[in-house]
Amino acid sequence: MKQFVLPLLASGAAAFPFVANQAGVDSSLLNSGRVRPRQQAGEGAGSAATCPFNPNHVPAAPVTAQYPYNNAKNGVQGNGKGGYYVPAAGDTAHQFVAPGPNDIRGPCPGLNAAANHNFLAHDGITTFNELVDAQQNVYNVGYDLATLLAALGLTLTDGDLVTEKLSIGCDATTRTSTSPAVTGSEPGLDGHNKFEADSSLTRNDFFTHGGDDFTFNGTLFGMMQNTCQGNFNLQNLATYRKMRYQQSQAENANFYFGPLSLLLYGAASFLYELMPSGTHNYAPDLPTISSFFGAHQQSDGTWTFGNDEQIPANWTNRVAPYTNNDVTQQILSMYLLDPVLFGGNTASGSFDVVSSGAIQNGTLPQGLDAADTSCLLYQLATQSQPSYTNGVVTPTVNALAFLATKLSPSFANLGCPQPLTK
Ligand code: HEM
Ligand SMILES: *[C@@H]1O[C@H](CO)[C@@H](O)[C@H](O)[C@H]1NC(C)=O
Ligand SMILES: *[C@@H]1O[C@H](CO)[C@@H](O)[C@H](O)[C@H]1NC(C)=O
Ligand SMILES: *[C@@H]1O[C@H](CO)[C@@H](O)[C@H](O)[C@H]1NC(C)=O
Repeated sequence: MKQFVLPLLASGAAAFPFVANQAGVDSSLLNSGRVRPRQQAGEGAGSAATCPFNPNHVPAAPVTAQYPYNNAKNGVQGNGKGGYYVPAAGDTAHQFVAPGPNDIRGPCPGLNAAANHNFLAHDGITTFNELVDAQQNVYNVGYDLATLLAALGLTLTDGDLVTEKLSIGCDATTRTSTSPAVTGSEPGLDGHNKFEADSSLTRNDFFTHGGDDFTFNGTLFGMMQNTCQGNFNLQNLATYRKMRYQQSQAENANFYFGPLSLLLYGAASFLYELMPSGTHNYAPDLPTISSFFGAHQQSDGTWTFGNDEQIPANWTNRVAPYTNNDVTQQILSMYLLDPVLFGGNTASGSFDVVSSGAIQNGTLPQGLDAADTSCLLYQLATQSQPSYTNGVVTPTVNALAFLATKLSPSFANLGCPQPLTK
């Protein structure tokens, strides 16, 4: 099995200022590799105290014989043949319904829109199976990538591995957890420095904005549009990602861009790979992208949020499934167009680089071998990662067992190291 280096531990995780600042982080645990995931600050943004509560949870509207989409149900593989209208004409169960005060939304426009169309539970308390089905039925995400992203969502951001429930936004532990006393808090996708990370396209950094790392920011959307000029393609998003990195590095004393930030390149690729419509010749254009983000331009040119992240009218999804291999190629291409160092700002004012898996001395090299490439994202789920808030995130035994159940054999067949054989 491949070795991975954790210089954060060797050099002392306390070099990163955020570590000392974290409520609930016991520095003495940093070397144990078994630190509990960070909980959202008491009353702050994304916390349990401010999280919407819906007493009447209604699951996602399933696909039916009349409106089968990719016929993905119960977390199993669907047809993988896209190019169809979503929602289908006449399918009232999947029409857009704006989120109400009891509904949870979070940092991911793709999942927020899916919940607004009832492909995920409308209240934002979803399950592994709903996530796997919705990604296939709506966006024609390949089964391998759909399961990997859903598994990353549950294990990295502390969904519940028994109920397999996850909040797509704030901390809803009382609804996701099998037993809050046993599991502790489950922060949901808003949880910082897990799946969510600094230098997002349209969301603030956690530490510069009082923990609000999930609300749509119109200034950032405007910056993205100014950079992309109505063409949200690989090259333009690579430029914008680099700008956001430099902005965070300059403005956020607690900036951290670790291995999990590879996922941000993947999310950026969704703008030109998953959101475009066949009825617009699959162009990643402004009408399409602004609809998914719920972004509306005012007469003064600024952008505001309409609480209406939705699938554009007359939209057909991509024809071929978007697979793990596809997204990894896009991640590598986007990174290599404008490479930046993986690492973080330190208390002493310097920038420390990290190494982990394919990332060595803060960089991802050109020409990774096929095995490294195939397993790039899988390793984020299964291996220990240097992570800002916790020093190191080491998957628990339960998480590894969950991943082995959900992801084998597809990743075993690719030659990815199997976590339980360590
Ligand atoms: C289970 C599957 C998924 C999970 C768990 C997930 C989770 C997340 C999370 C936590 C973020 C925040 C990352 C950050 O800090 O910027 C994010 C961002 C994003 N996601 Fe998803 N996502 C999933 C699937 C999708 C799909 C299918 C789409 C397709 C449209 C999508 C589109 C995006 C985009 C465009 C962003 C960037 C938003 C921004 O930076 O402003 N995601 N996702
Ligand atoms: C939106 O983003 C800009 C640029 O990073 C930032 O200055 C501003 O404080 C943010 N606005 C809100 C309301 O968070
Ligand atoms: C939907 O897209 C098709 C193909 O581009 C077009 O012919 C049709 O007019 C569009 N319908 C609406 C309502 O926009
Ligand atoms: C990383 O940097 C160290 C120290 O400069 C060097 O010894 C090592 O060879 C580098 N590793 C890679 C993969 O570049």
